[in-house]
Amino acid sequence: MPKLPIITYPNQILEKKSQKIKDVQDPAIQELILNMLDTLEESNGLGLAAPQVGKSLRLCIAKLDGQTHILINPKIISKSWRKFYPEEGCLSFPGKFFITKRHKKIKLTAIDRHGKKISLSADGLLSQAFQHEIDHLDGVLFTQRKSRKK
Ligand code: CO
Repeated sequence: MPKLPIITYPNQILEKKSQKIKDVQDPAIQELILNMLDTLEESNGLGLAAPQVGKSLRLCIAKLDGQTHILINPKIISKSWRKFYPEEGCLSFPGKFFITKRHKKIKLTAIDRHGKKISLSADGLLSQAFQHEIDHLDGVLFTQRKSRKK
């Protein structure tokens, strides 16, 4: 599968709200998922969202501790009151790192690559990665989550 070019800031698509995916089994969607997995594999990132490869669709992936999560139409259903302030980067902002403010824990629902509904709980780095990628689907960039606190 080919590695897709990653769109960097500033590009209008990165600030656009993405569209829900209606048919997960659509071969074009399945191909996009495979291409995004390869693209992330070859990049030095934790996650990748479809708008970053030019598709304004609600699809993102995150890879942590050897586990790959594919989230289609993800929705955060609860966020911990407790926040934390991790350092963060983004493949669309090469070489830029900022301290951000994120919820320590979140719960989400999504559809997996087979069209099955899934629920996930995430804490710490995985929670941060999911929040970052889901923000991309809403056109929100990590520069908007910057914090001065440590
Ligand atoms: Co990003």
